[in-house]
Formats: sequence, C-alpha cells, structure tokens
Amino acid sequence: MDRYTRCFVKGSLIYLAIGVVLGVMMAAHGDWTPLLGRTHNHFNLVGFVCFMIFGVGYHILPRFTGRPLHSAKLADLHLWLANIGLIGMSIFWILDAGFEQYVFEFLAVLFSIILGISMIVFIYNMWKSLIPLPQEE
Ligand code: HEM
Ligand code: HEM
Repeated sequence: MDRYTRCFVKGSLIYLAIGVVLGVMMAAHGDWTPLLGRTHNHFNLVGFVCFMIFGVGYHILPRFTGRPLHSAKLADLHLWLANIGLIGMSIFWILDAGFEQYVFEFLAVLFSIILGISMIVFIYNMWKSLIPLPQEE
C-alpha cells in the first residue's frame, strides 16, 4: 500500500474520531452547536468521508485502468494540502465563531482555499490516471 493511501485512510479514521467527539459534545450541550457545528460537519464529511474515498480511490482506481497513478508527487502534495487546509479551516472556524474577529474569518477563508486547491490536485491527478493513453483508445 502506498504511503499516501495509508495516510489518507489513517487520517480519515482520526477525523472520524474527532468529528464524533464534537458531535457528542454538541448533543450534550446544544448551545455549543454554533461554535462546533461547521467543524463537526466538515471533519466528518471532508475528513472522514472524502479522505476515505481519496485513500481507497488512489489504491483502487488506477488498478482499474491497469496503469500506475499519474503522479505520486501530486498525491503527496494533495495529502499535505488537504490536511493543512482542513485543520486550519476548522481551527479558524471555531475561533471565528467564538471571537468574531475579522482576522479569524480571513484565515478560515485562506485555509479553505488551500483545501479547495488540494481537491483540484486530486481531480487532476485522478483524471490523468484514468483517461486512456492514445494507443489504448
Ligand atoms: C456519534 C456520532 C454523532 C453525533 C453525536 C452527532 C451529533 C450531531 C449534532 C448534535 C449536530 C447538530 C444538529 C443541530 O443543528 O442542532 C450534528 C450535525 C451534523 N452532523 Fe453529526 N453527529 C454524529 C456523527 C456524524 C457523522 C458520522 C456525520 C457524517 C458522516 C455527521 C454529519 C453531520 C452534518 C452534515 C451535520 C449538519 C446538519 C445540519 O446542520 O442540518 N454527523 N451532528
Ligand atoms: C474546500 C472544501 C469546502 C469548503 C471550504 C466548505 C465550506 C462550507 C461552508 C462555508 C459552509 C456553510 C456553513 C454555514 O452556513 O454555517 C458549508 C456547508 C456545508 N458543507 Fe462544506 N465546504 C467544503 C467541502 C464540503 C464537502 C466536500 C462536503 C461533503 C462531502 C461538504 C458538506 C457541507 C454540508 C452538508 C454543509 C451544510 C451544513 C449545514 O447546513 O449546516 N462541504 N461548507
């Protein structure tokens, strides 16, 4: 199993654990929902669900075409950007909801852009891995 596959799957499980802890905290204290809701939602849906799909996708999808992944370097870049983006976005969402400071909102947007770029890196790399080479068409 490649390093980025293993890291995405392990990261996914860690984000599920954090997401569920935040969910239970909100279930116990309803008034924490405005503070933690977005982060709970995205740790679960981006962190757990998307990261699991990324990890499994990197392992399985190129095997369907019988060719290696287009770029392992881009997969590593995706791994770093996605983790930095998701963690940064989540921290600053919570700080923004708590303190309502412009700087936290700005930083949350900055990290969300990093997360968005990571998704584009994934789309590009996977697309290039799946399109048939000219001699295969
Ligand atoms: C032990 C597990 C979980 C608990 C206790 C929990 C609890 C909660 C609570 C209390 C809310 C806030 C609801 C409100 O707006 O008042 C919420 C929202 C949400 N949760 Fe969870 N959750 C859990 C797991 C998950 C998982 C695994 C996912 C996704 C894979 C998820 C996705 C969401 C989403 C998308 C929202 C936002 C929904 C909305 O605002 O309408 N949750 N959860
Ligand atoms: C770069 C990636 C992403 C960014 C920057 C982002 C950002 C946001 C923002 C700013 C909101 C509005 C929250 C609010 O109104 O309080 C939102 C809502 C939501 N996002 Fe994302 N999102 C991203 C990716 C995703 C993905 C991949 C999923 C699902 C797999 C997802 C699921 C949702 C859901 C279900 C809501 C609505 C929750 C609610 O109404 O409480 N997001 N997102």
